[in-house]
Amino acid sequence: MALLPILRFPDPRLKKVAAPVVRVDDSIRKLAADMAETMYEAPGIGLAATQVDVHQRVVVIDVSEEKSELRVFINPVLSHCDGSQVGEEGCLSVPGIYDKVERAEQVTVDYLDLDGQAQSLRAEGLLAVCLQHEVDHLNGKVFVDHLSSLKQTRIKNKLAKQARVTA
Ligand code: NI
Repeated sequence: MALLPILRFPDPRLKKVAAPVVRVDDSIRKLAADMAETMYEAPGIGLAATQVDVHQRVVVIDVSEEKSELRVFINPVLSHCDGSQVGEEGCLSVPGIYDKVERAEQVTVDYLDLDGQAQSLRAEGLLAVCLQHEVDHLNGKVFVDHLSSLKQTRIKNKLAKQARVTA
């Protein structure tokens, strides 16, 4: 396994729309394993392939306290989005920035597992938020895109300042 570099907002590569995985093979399984290692090391609760500059529809999530429930979603499609919840979100591509985003409370996700088998899962709460956040990434969207343009400008300025300090 290997740690992968994570793209930082506003890198234009975060705006690419990821392509569906055509075949779940060893290269996809290796990508998922590397993404999981990268997510745990960061540490974070979710990571989309887009964030590591691989533009295929692969997401890893682990919202468990003990970091013991890795979930891999290949070609995830969300449907039956019900209700709404507002929670504070962050993102490994937008370090140090947290803000409130409104999401559906419950979603159904259809996806392929690591064996290429079709699966369906009903999710709610944090897992539902995380799925919506990661599928946004696959569609070229970062959570700050849900915020006002004033907030987006502030965030860009703050991150540019951080980059200068650490450079
Ligand atoms: Ni994110």
